[in-house]
Amino acid sequence: MADLADTHDLYQKSVQSPDNDMEFLSDYFKGYTGKVLRQFREDFCGTAYLSAYFVAQHAKNQAIGVDLDWPTLNWGIKHNVSSLTPEQQQRLSLVNANVLDVQQPRMQMIAALNFSYMVFHDRPTLLQYLTNARESIQPGGVIVMDVWGGSESQVLQEEAREIENSDDAQIGDFIFTWDQDTFDPFTHFYTTRIHFSFTDDSEIRDAFVYNWRLWTIPEVTELMTEAGFQDIHVLWEGTDPDTKEGTATYERVDKGDADLAWIAYIVGQNPSG
Ligand SMILES: C[S@@+](CC[C@H](N)C(=O)[O-])C[C@H]1O[C@@H](n2cnc3c(N)ncnc32)[C@H](O)[C@@H]1O
Repeated sequence: MADLADTHDLYQKSVQSPDNDMEFLSDYFKGYTGKVLRQFREDFCGTAYLSAYFVAQHAKNQAIGVDLDWPTLNWGIKHNVSSLTPEQQQRLSLVNANVLDVQQPRMQMIAALNFSYMVFHDRPTLLQYLTNARESIQPGGVIVMDVWGGSESQVLQEEAREIENSDDAQIGDFIFTWDQDTFDPFTHFYTTRIHFSFTDDSEIRDAFVYNWRLWTIPEVTELMTEAGFQDIHVLWEGTDPDTKEGTATYERVDKGDADLAWIAYIVGQNPSG
């Protein structure tokens, strides 16, 4: 099964959910700006799963996906873009470039998801990214970045999750493992790995390996201020009062809880003029 499996397909099924993500991003944008999200840039887009979904949602939707890695983008063209109509494809641009170098056309929103900006290891480079991103966003538009933390984020551990995959008879359900492999408290440099394993006991170790810096919310929000964003705020996951579990809905709050592990979104607005 490991020989037959396609790591990008497994990745998308394990960690991406374009319908939920785009509904959340579009709804938040409408509530926050009063405008409908029609122009969307996906930084670190990988296989452009989100962007391809977005252009299929409405005849006026336009998207740009930016990624440095051509084989990954090319996989997205074959698997996510090719199933779009020619007209939908016209509203999607994929740019094989460094996100630090792309500014035009300016979009209403930039999303940088699955912690991809953590590839930047120092303040000057993250500031450069945020400054370039702000200048790539229309006046009044926003950037949305996810962030992850809590004491468990600094524990070396492997966390396995079963992924339902019934539409693929060859592979079937499989296990996604998130491996927090090395963490240096001095620098917050982090090596994380993704492994997949299958019902026939075969596995793909190190399908994806990330050398990240685990940025904290105050570091990112301070740099967003330096980059010229305004009204920088955090969307925090709600808690079900009965089960004490996360509700998977995110709301603007001024203060978080010291949860063992959390994911949140940081939002900043490009000033209007
Ligand atoms: C963790 S994956 C994210 C994929 C997808 N966006 C998601 O949310 O799951 C990170 C992606 O960022 C890309 N990447 C890393 N550094 C980049 C840079 N400086 N500019 C553009 N893309 C970059 C990698 O090629 C990879 O596809």
